[in-house]
Amino acid sequence: MRHIVVLSGAGMSAESGISTFRDNGGLWDKYDISEVATPEAWARQPELVLEFYNMRRAALAEVEPNSGHLALTQLEEHFDVSIITQNVDDLHERAGSRNILHLHGELTKVRSTKNEDHIQDIGYQNLKLGDKCPDGGQLRPHIVWFGEEVPKLMEAAQITRTADILLIIGTSMQVYPASQLIYEASPNCEVYYIDPDPAPVYGISNLKVIKEKAGIGVPALVHNLMSKNQ
Ligand code: OAD
Repeated sequence: MRHIVVLSGAGMSAESGISTFRDNGGLWDKYDISEVATPEAWARQPELVLEFYNMRRAALAEVEPNSGHLALTQLEEHFDVSIITQNVDDLHERAGSRNILHLHGELTKVRSTKNEDHIQDIGYQNLKLGDKCPDGGQLRPHIVWFGEEVPKLMEAAQITRTADILLIIGTSMQVYPASQLIYEASPNCEVYYIDPDPAPVYGISNLKVIKEKAGIGVPALVHNLMSKNQ
C-alpha cells in the first residue's frame, strides 16, 4: 500500500470552532505566549498557565471533528496513513483516524513534573495546583511549550521520509521544527498543501498548493486520491 503522511496544523480544526494561533483574532492575539506557554510561565504563574489549558480543554469538549478530519479516515481504506499533527486537540482520534502522532502534546493528557514519562488521561476536566501524580509530582499539561524539546521529532521525521504522498493541512509553517518536516520527504513524494492563506514554500519540486479551507479542500483531495488509486 502507498503511504500517505498528513501534517496537520491549527487550520485543520478551525471549522470545528477551535481558534488558530496566528490568524487575526487567533489565540496569540488574545494571549501572550510568554505568559502561558513556556516553562518560565509555569514556574512564575502556574495558576494562569493551568487556567489557559483548562479553558482550552473545556472548549474542546464542546466541538466535533469536521468534514476534513472525517475525510482523512476514508483514506485508510486504500492507503497506509500516518497523521502527524501539531494540534493538541483530539479531533483526529474522534473522527476515527488510527495512526496519530502528536508533535506538540495532547490537551486530554497531563504528566508529572517529576518524571515526563508519567503521563495520565484527564479528558476534558480541569487541572489544579495540588493535583499530584502517584509519584508525588505536581501534574502539568502534557504540552510541548516554547523552549522545550520536541520529543517525537525524530519519529515524525522518520515517518515523513517514508511518505509517497504528503498532505500538509492548515498550518502557517512558522513554528520550528514542525515547519521543517516537509524537507524530510523524498524528492519523488507528491506534496499537497491545503490552506486558504498558505505560507510560501521553497525547494519542494512536486508541491501542489490548494487554496481552500480544510472542510472543502480535504474531502475533495481525498476523493481524487481515492479515485486515482482504484
Ligand atoms: P497557525 O495559527 O500558525 O496557522 C494556522 C493556519 O491555518 C494558517 O496558515 C491559516 O491560513 C490556516 N487556516 C485558517 N483557517 C483554516 C481552515 N478553515 N482550513 C485550513 N486552514 C486554515 O497554526 P499552526 O501552524 O498549527 O504550538 O501553529 C503551529 C504551532 O504554533 C501550534 O502547534 C502551537 C502554536 O504556537 C504550541 O502551542 C506548542
